[in-house]
Amino acid sequence: MKALLCTRLGEPDDLSLAEIADPVPGPGEAVVRITLAALNFFDTLIIAGRYQVKPDLPFSPGGEASGVVEALGPDTAGFSVGERVIVHQKFGTVRERIAVATHHLTPIPDGVSDEQAAGLTITYGTSLHALRDRAKLQPGETLAVLGASGGVGLAAVELGAIMGAHVIACASSPDKLAVARAHGATQGVDYGADNLREALRTLTEGRGVDVIYDPIGGDYAEPALRSLGWKGRYLVIGFAAGDIPRIPLNLALLKGIDIQGVHWGVFVEREPEAHAGNQRQLLAWVAEGRLTAKVHGVYPLAEYAEALGILKRREAVGKVLLRL
Ligand SMILES: NC(=O)c1ccc[n+]([C@@H]2O[C@H](COP(=O)([O-])OP(=O)(O)OC[C@H]3O[C@@H](n4cnc5c(N)ncnc54)[C@H](OP(=O)(O)O)[C@@H]3O)[C@@H](O)[C@H]2O)c1
Repeated sequence: MKALLCTRLGEPDDLSLAEIADPVPGPGEAVVRITLAALNFFDTLIIAGRYQVKPDLPFSPGGEASGVVEALGPDTAGFSVGERVIVHQKFGTVRERIAVATHHLTPIPDGVSDEQAAGLTITYGTSLHALRDRAKLQPGETLAVLGASGGVGLAAVELGAIMGAHVIACASSPDKLAVARAHGATQGVDYGADNLREALRTLTEGRGVDVIYDPIGGDYAEPALRSLGWKGRYLVIGFAAGDIPRIPLNLALLKGIDIQGVHWGVFVEREPEAHAGNQRQLLAWVAEGRLTAKVHGVYPLAEYAEALGILKRREAVGKVLLRL
């Protein structure tokens, strides 16, 4: 079978396609025929050895995918051959077949396409966990989302709108803000042109924001934190801008602010039932047409370097998928 392999750490061009042996399902495992593998920002880090997960070489990148159960090992209750499923695990999905423990699978209900399902879990899972489980976002509250047209950012915009919040999208260009408005944001800040803190103060008439969703960090973090209102919640999601900011803690004291860390990958392992509940909620909202699960583009496997390049160049608006 065909597999995308990282045989030495480096750039997308250093990856290669290879023929490898088909997997056999062990106890508690299923073999899934992968239809579409979804790429994430962290796939550009894991192949370069710059991510917290460091697989032994060679390995295949890819943390999520949609596919069909092709074979079941012993002790695999709850799944059947031919069933459409989502596969979610730290890496390994960019290959034609994968043997995976069934607790890494989620059934795909009718009304949800393979394209929508392939890239739903990590970005929408992270944002639902952050907004509902961590920040306990309430209807009518103000939510400001940084990196609002990126993977987790756009998911946070859509989920914030579904949860009845007043969503302010923050991004680096008018085009990106237009995408976020088309997915539920009611106002926008172009931090490529405007001062983030002043703009948020003006948009909230000085009251401040209730919840900040921050996947980029860097120079944006402190002005965003200073834009919170009384008892605001600051969600620490990621550092796409590169630097991990150092924040003066008196800022948290002055307004009774909660700085809330979000580590979705560990949440999934430590609270599998809560994760499964969030997955079912997300799939139901997609099936009802309330969540778009936007796809940036579907690329043939041979175009893996271009697909990963789009993520590295900050051009992704929605999910980047590879067809196996
Ligand atoms: N905490 C968790 O559990 C968790 C889960 C998933 C992802 N993450 C993290 O969240 C961050 C965003 O992930 P993603 O999948 O949404 O990535 P993405 O689709 O590439 O979006 C990143 C956004 O960040 C902004 N950005 C600012 N500076 C950037 C830079 N130097 N390079 C690239 N983008 C930059 C861009 O928006 P503008 O151009 O508008 O600024 C871009 O749209 C990553 O750090 C990722 O590791 C964390």
